[in-house]
Amino acid sequence: MPSFSLAMHGKHARVSPRPGCYDCHPGPVTQCLRTAIEGMQSCENCHGNLQEMATSLRNGRRPWLDEPKCSNCHQGLEIDTGSTLYRDARGHHGVYCATCHYEPHAWWPSLLPKDNRQAILLQGESGPLGKNCLACHTSLPDEPGPHGLPPSSTAEVVNLAPSSPLEGRRFLGPPVTSSSQAHLSMPRRGKMVLIPELLVPEDRIGERVSLYYLVCSADHSWCSDVRSLGRVTLGHTVLFPIIETPTPLSGIPAGTYRIYVGFSRVPDFSDLVYSFYEVKLD
Ligand code: HEC
Ligand code: HEC
Ligand code: HEC
Ligand code: HEC
Ligand code: HEC
Repeated sequence: MPSFSLAMHGKHARVSPRPGCYDCHPGPVTQCLRTAIEGMQSCENCHGNLQEMATSLRNGRRPWLDEPKCSNCHQGLEIDTGSTLYRDARGHHGVYCATCHYEPHAWWPSLLPKDNRQAILLQGESGPLGKNCLACHTSLPDEPGPHGLPPSSTAEVVNLAPSSPLEGRRFLGPPVTSSSQAHLSMPRRGKMVLIPELLVPEDRIGERVSLYYLVCSADHSWCSDVRSLGRVTLGHTVLFPIIETPTPLSGIPAGTYRIYVGFSRVPDFSDLVYSFYEVKLD
């Protein structure tokens, strides 16, 4: 038998019932394949089924060294990596493909929130890095970028230090007296992304909650609608990806505002944990 891979895949292509890839590879709980990109979510699409894997090995494919390539399905500039494995290949001025697309089998955007964290911190949303050149460049380049993409800056991203939670109060009502976590200046026009991070009290870790945010004037005479940011299972911290401008801040007058972020399990917010940021809109 020429290789262990041929022994495993070749033999199991002929047994009944025929096992699925996840019967042996990390899954069904671990789910080694986590990308959210549709069309890239089935092992067989890229690797072929057991029979095809065995056949390719018999025809000279070297296990572990000859793996699927992006260019099997995608065409374009800097996509064909020749005989170099994805994990070793580089594009855009020597930047690893994996820097911008992430690990094999968890290509951004991923179904697992933890995987997306780095992309969100760098460019405000998950997906390949480069839609926003400012994720890496300090000023907007004047030449094309990866795959010939035009220079673009979708947003300026502000990461806020993890803040301590305030408990048991509502978003609405009199302004809280404790001091806010950050003071920043933001432009009302031109997109800017604010990424607050909230520390989770020990006894709430593991709960499934909804995330919310809300903008109020400093004296609470005006507040926006409470916006929902989806549901998460709480870890030690919660990262709130919030597109702050152009909505809802672009339409309101210059001045000082409070941006509240919080999470709650129940719709009446009685178990709310939240924090807020004081933001000066110029
Ligand atoms: C019966 C168990 C079993 C099943 C089912 C199985 N694998 Fe494997 N697979 C293995 C083992 C064991 C290895 C390690 C072989 C080695 O160490 O060389 C392996 C290695 C691999 C490799 C790396 C070696 C190579 O040939 O490039 C790939 C890729 C792979 N499997 C893909 C798949 C895919 C895709 C499926 C589903 C179509 C699948 N496997 C189903 C057991 C299995
Ligand atoms: C979108 C295409 C694609 C899909 C879908 C895909 N793979 Fe892969 N797989 C790759 C690429 C590309 C590599 C080479 C990774 C590298 O260069 O590090 C690879 C490598 C592997 C390897 C070798 C280990 C390694 O890190 O090199 C195994 C095992 C494997 N895949 C199993 C699977 C299994 C099991 C599934 C389904 C759960 C799956 N793959 C789905 C593209 C894919
Ligand atoms: C089996 C075929 C296949 C392979 C191999 C494959 N993809 Fe895809 N990919 C698709 C399909 C299908 C789509 C969804 C349709 C589309 O946008 O082209 C997609 C979409 C994407 C998108 C989103 C495009 C967009 O405009 O939203 C990215 C990014 C991407 N693939 C990256 C990769 C990378 C990186 C690799 C190599 C590691 C790879 N793909 C390998 C089939 C594949
Ligand atoms: C500097 C960041 C960066 C690097 C490095 C990079 N890419 Fe990309 N890639 C992107 C961005 C951004 C997109 C999304 C383009 C879009 O949405 O139009 C993309 C899109 C893709 C797609 C999907 C194309 C399609 O049809 O929509 C593939 C496949 C791909 N890259 C493969 C690679 C490979 C292979 C490498 C390494 C040789 C690589 N990329 C290096 C940023 C990068
Ligand atoms: C993941 C990080 C990353 C992203 C995202 C990125 N670049 Fe780059 N870019 C680099 C690195 C690293 C270099 C090499 C710098 C060097 O050699 O000093 C580079 C170099 C360049 C260069 C060559 C001239 C120079 O400034 O060094 C151009 C032009 C460029 N990038 C354009 C773009 C454009 C346009 C975008 C957005 C569409 C983009 N890049 C996105 C990392 C990135």
